[in-house]
Amino acid sequence: MSNSLMDAYGRTIQYLRVSITDLCNLRCIYCRPPEGVPLVTHEEILRYEEILAIVGIFRDLGIKKIRVTGGEPLVRRGVREFIARLAAMKGIEDVGLTTNGVLLASMAKDLRAAGLKRVNVSLDSMDRENFRRITGSDKLELVLKGIREALAVGFSPVKINVVLLQGINETDVAEFARLTIHEPVYVRFIERMPFGSESLPSSPDSFSAHRVLEMIRKEVGELKIMDREPLDGPATMYTLKGAAGRIGIIDPVTGHFCGTCNRMRLTARGTLRPCLLGSAEIDVKTPLRHGATPAELTEIVRSAVLAKPVGHPGEPQRMCDGMNTIGG
Ligand code: GTP
Ligand code: 5AD
Ligand code: SF4
Repeated sequence: MSNSLMDAYGRTIQYLRVSITDLCNLRCIYCRPPEGVPLVTHEEILRYEEILAIVGIFRDLGIKKIRVTGGEPLVRRGVREFIARLAAMKGIEDVGLTTNGVLLASMAKDLRAAGLKRVNVSLDSMDRENFRRITGSDKLELVLKGIREALAVGFSPVKINVVLLQGINETDVAEFARLTIHEPVYVRFIERMPFGSESLPSSPDSFSAHRVLEMIRKEVGELKIMDREPLDGPATMYTLKGAAGRIGIIDPVTGHFCGTCNRMRLTARGTLRPCLLGSAEIDVKTPLRHGATPAELTEIVRSAVLAKPVGHPGEPQRMCDGMNTIGG
């Protein structure tokens, strides 16, 4: 049996995103479905031991890159030790974390010592009022401190994810772009993916990633497109002349990047998600808790990978569940 994971459309899976909790210490306006989120009990959440066992199966199938997500991963007790164990796994070469940054300042140094390689911070505004409006909290200073501390302890680059919120953070685009001039940060603007029954922003003047590029060119300076790197995700990267950092766009609504999709997702509730969008999930927790053998778990992983959809080229895309359960 080959030790690589290929889906039904010839895409090789190189990357596993692992959500370790659906809890979060912020309440971002775009993150949850309007009908609210179901309550998940402690027992329903995978234990670290169980996550490591599933990661081991993926590792044996050739996965070298893991990203830890949430909810907010840093709110889960024991996350530092968990990351240390992940990073120490033979064959796992790259462990990253996506966080809202609130708890990062106090943890960055330990996380780096634990073997974490890369940190992505979700931050949609550097304006205090706007930040409060988006997240329902006053913690902007903590997040900015978290980013500074991550850079200071040697994470480089630190990626900042900015979700585009029409009528809210258009005014933040230029400031985020300017931040890349002196700081080694990659600011990535992400088109907001709508939930379930939400209507899609389809009008030509909607706040798309491409409009962001126009705004930056007009207000900040010319952008040069960068070559793609092998493990690059869906972001297309640019740089301003002489800048220390980079600017990226992720365009799930107006673009078509499913053809190069290279990832699978493990949710905190112990299901495998073949695609961020749509609702397909494959239960891996129940078989694991009922003593499935590694060979049986491997089959479950392979069948989940084969369930990856081709994507929907040309179609605007929407999510069925909240990001808090999937982790982006
Ligand atoms: P790197 O390993 O640094 O490339 O990280 P990443 O971009 O894969 O991870 P991150 O958590 O920073 O993801 C950024 C955001 O891009 C996600 O949260 C989603 O909003 C979006 N995104 C990432 N991957 C996919 C994908 O496969 N499909 C869709 N539709 N959106 C994605
Ligand atoms: N659309 C696009 N990106 C989203 N994120 C959360 N919700 C959405 C959405 N509806 C992003 C966050 C974070 C990542 C894990 O997912 O900003 O960076
Ligand atoms: Fe992959 Fe689904 Fe995202 Fe397309 S929409 S890139 S198939 S996760």
